Amino acid sequence: MFGRSRPQGPGTAAAGEATPPAGGYFGGQEPMRAFDRPVTDAAVLLRDVHKKYGRGSTATHALRGVSIALPRGSFTAIMGPSGSGKSTFLQCSAGLDRPDSGSVLLGDTELTRMRENKLSDVRLSRMGFVFQHFNLLPALTVHQNVELPLKLAGKRIDRNKTEEILSRVGLPDRGHRRPGELSGGQQQRVAIARALVTEPDVIFADEPTGALDTTTASEVLALLREAVDQLGSTVVMVTHEPNAAAWADRVLFLVDGEISDELTLVDSEEIASRMRELTRTANRSKAAAAPVRGRA
Ligand SMILES: Nc1ncnc2c1ncn2[C@@H]1O[C@H](COP(=O)(O)OP(=O)(O)OP(=O)(O)O)[C@@H](O)[C@H]1O
Ligand SMILES: [Mg+2]
Repeated sequence: MFGRSRPQGPGTAAAGEATPPAGGYFGGQEPMRAFDRPVTDAAVLLRDVHKKYGRGSTATHALRGVSIALPRGSFTAIMGPSGSGKSTFLQCSAGLDRPDSGSVLLGDTELTRMRENKLSDVRLSRMGFVFQHFNLLPALTVHQNVELPLKLAGKRIDRNKTEEILSRVGLPDRGHRRPGELSGGQQQRVAIARALVTEPDVIFADEPTGALDTTTASEVLALLREAVDQLGSTVVMVTHEPNAAAWADRVLFLVDGEISDELTLVDSEEIASRMRELTRTANRSKAAAAPVRGRA
């Protein structure tokens, strides 16, 4: 029942969008959908997470009691209006920022009260990151960029394995190049290879297609999808784009620091329409809460 491959439905595969090569980037196995697998536990678990920036009357409540479980082997998209708390959600989930209260677990590991050096070990060995602007080191070769998390974690580097991952993301024989010699889409594939190299528990992606054209964006999203379906990775992706969110199994909508809604296995039209509704409602409540000018 969940055997369809993403994206599906109107609006998700615009004319000219790329499709993955036959058999997919990660080989020809029959994809195993996240929902076909028994979900025994969560890769990431947030319990009543609150995060506030600033103090007193000018404080911003970026997260107001977020509780959510993200199952292993699932692809979750986080959407919401600008300022709704998406990046804060990702940063708190990845231990890059500390919640004021509540707890964040990576599998069985409680991150919330972990010391900074231990947290940074956990991030290096158990999390992968993909950013809008790729964040590759320009002075390093592609091989070295991909191997960097292993090197920083003091783990053994296996050049054959690096090559294998680069082939999987469609970049065989590019290992000696520098990022500046690659296109944006190719650089993002290197970033995905870097995120996969440690076989992390979860990959966090913040607007991974924000700097890419539609065709290249689809190729990058297909890679994330295949990492979930064929390697069993867990992906959490913040995006503004319904077309990108449609590749996920589940879309969570944040409004004003709270998860206000979620959709499962839907196409980009439905996602776009839900976003429009939520933005309208959020704007209406903001307008109602704003002081009326000209009155005492
Ligand atoms: N370091 C910070 N200091 C003060 N306020 C912050 C900080 N980071 C975020 N905020 C505020 O917290 C709220 C949530 O911010 P966040 O960056 O999580 O939103 P977002 O949903 O990712 O927005 P966007 O779509 O624009 O990236 C916003 O009102 C923002 O101004
Ligand atoms: Mg953001």
